[in-house]
Amino acid sequence: MKVSTSILNWFDKTKRDLPFRKNKNPYNVWVSEIMLQQTKVETVIPYYNNWIKKFPDIISVSKAKENDLLKSWEGLGYYARCRNFHKAAKIICKDYNSEIPQSWDVFRNLPGVGDYTAGAVLSIAFKKPFIALDGNVKRVMNRVTGRRKLSKYNTNYIKKTLIKWLDDNRPGDFNEAMMELGACICTPRRPRCNDCPINSVCVAYNSGNPLNYPKYIKKKSIPNYTFVGGLIRSQNKILIQKRDQRMLFGLWEIPNKKTNSDKAIKKELKNYIMKNYGLNILVKEQLGVINHSYSHFNMDLVLLDCVKDGIIKNPQKTYKWIKKSEIIDYPFHKANHKIFSLFKNDYWVI
Ligand code: ADE
Repeated sequence: MKVSTSILNWFDKTKRDLPFRKNKNPYNVWVSEIMLQQTKVETVIPYYNNWIKKFPDIISVSKAKENDLLKSWEGLGYYARCRNFHKAAKIICKDYNSEIPQSWDVFRNLPGVGDYTAGAVLSIAFKKPFIALDGNVKRVMNRVTGRRKLSKYNTNYIKKTLIKWLDDNRPGDFNEAMMELGACICTPRRPRCNDCPINSVCVAYNSGNPLNYPKYIKKKSIPNYTFVGGLIRSQNKILIQKRDQRMLFGLWEIPNKKTNSDKAIKKELKNYIMKNYGLNILVKEQLGVINHSYSHFNMDLVLLDCVKDGIIKNPQKTYKWIKKSEIIDYPFHKANHKIFSLFKNDYWVI
């Protein structure tokens, strides 16, 4: 039997019932494939369902405000995916009559679309014969073809093998089946080789030590940074600002800054607020410390209780004074929700 037939037979019998497998229209497929990058299926499901309800087609995305899209993405991380999708939707509605392009070159050139997304969407939604190589599929293929080294040469070898195996009648199903194999059977640490439909041709399995394929390089440890943030209160409102840095661009947060000092954090925050808002603040007690891990650093944020003392002059940031009930109107990154859960109701009123 051909390898692809074994994989597809297994997939037809055992595939998980996932919401994005019910509707294979290109828009739905694209949304799910963007959300599934770097993110687990279980995390994606509620976001996907809510998104499709709120933004049922590409036109609704192109017309939406970035803030509203980010609000629906809130907590999913890697927010550039959402901003790029917005840009791509606008291009499609303006230049392609609101129809998702079927051509590799056109689709691949849209913002946020890489080889993986193009291959996945065009094969699943349009049955085009392209492969979709994500991290899971790469691991499966390293094992099946007995590649230990994660080299460019081996990646090219894997791509060529996948193209050879691709089922021309069911390219999308083949790609999804490979992903499913990586997610459910050929897992990183405890592969369930006995349940694998292609174990007979798998070099790693037949070697007796499947975990040797591929050889994992130890990840570099990531640095720890300390930040100081202010819960700056004015009557029953607090000050929030919109991020203008590349990382988490467009999301909202409480005013904060990175610090190297343990002792002068109150002064540093005061200076930061003066510089960015021309505002004097009275810094009171420390409310707590929250910890959050991003992909490339860990953050400890020391949260200080502060009170506005004067008025804002010449602000350098987009800002708002909001009530607690208005938190739900703004997209905040995850660390801020940890902060909001720290302070009690009575901190909102002075
Ligand atoms: N991961 C990325 N795309 C997927 C899909 N279509 N099915 C399952 N897991 C996936």
